[in-house]
Formats: sequence, structure tokens, C-alpha cells
Amino acid sequence: MTSEKLIEMAKAAASNAYAPYSDFCVGAALLCKNGKIYTGCNIENSSFSPTNCAERTAFFKAISEGERDFEAIAIVGGKNLDFSDFCYPCGVCRQVISEFCNGEFRIILGKADGEIIESTLSELLPHGFSSENLR
Ligand code: THU
Repeated sequence: MTSEKLIEMAKAAASNAYAPYSDFCVGAALLCKNGKIYTGCNIENSSFSPTNCAERTAFFKAISEGERDFEAIAIVGGKNLDFSDFCYPCGVCRQVISEFCNGEFRIILGKADGEIIESTLSELLPHGFSSENLR
């Protein structure tokens, strides 16, 4: 699975975003180590705080299907599906990712012009809080 193909899947997922309050549409495509891919979009709510980000939608779909081993996630986002800038995952999503992935987990960001950048969870969430702290 190439980063380009994963980004294409994230773009398609973003078109399902339910974002009537912000118009900011986000799509994610989560690649499992077994090769399966789970996509997700953001789902907003009139009460705002129940809003779920695209990344967490993809993770929760995968976790609820029994997946536990993850390779990478591709993310795109922008107002009214305009992906002219990279969309980094929010802090809450970084924390949720850290529950299930180690620091090498790849986070792939894409833009409309085809540019792709890749980073890792350890770069985006250094010194995170984890189950290790609860031992
Ligand atoms: N959003 C995501 O889906 N993922 C992120 O990482 C950042 C923000 C969504 C939540 C909300 O529906 C909209 O973008 C504006 O914050």
C-alpha cells in the first residue's frame, strides 16, 4: 500500500464528513499491519463536544472490528474539501493513537497538489502519557 493510495482513500472519506458547523472536512485512512484499511471522517454535533474527529472514527471502527496492530494513518482536511494545506491530527487524536501504536507509527499528511509529508507518532507526541505511567 503506497502513501499516495492511502491519501486518495482519505480524500474519498473526507467527502462523507458531517461538518455542518465548521465546514471543515477531514478524512483518514488507517492501514493495519494485516493490510486491511479502515477509513473515517469527522462527525460533528450541535452540542459541539460530542464531535468525533476523522482519525478517531477510523481507529474506533478498526478497534471495534478486533484490529490491534497498526502501520500508518493518512489524513487530509480542509474547509469545504479544499485541501490546500496539510491537516495535522489534533492533540486528542494523537493521544488516542498513542493508546494503540508505538512511536514508529507513521502519520502521512496529504495536500491537494499531491504533496505528501510523513512523520511518526513520537515526533508528533513526544513525552506522551501512557499506560506505563499507571504501573
Ligand atoms: N477535526 C478532525 O476531524 N481531525 C483533526 O485532527 C482536527 C479537527 C475536525 C473536528 C471538527 O469537526 C472540525 O475538524 C473542525 O475542528
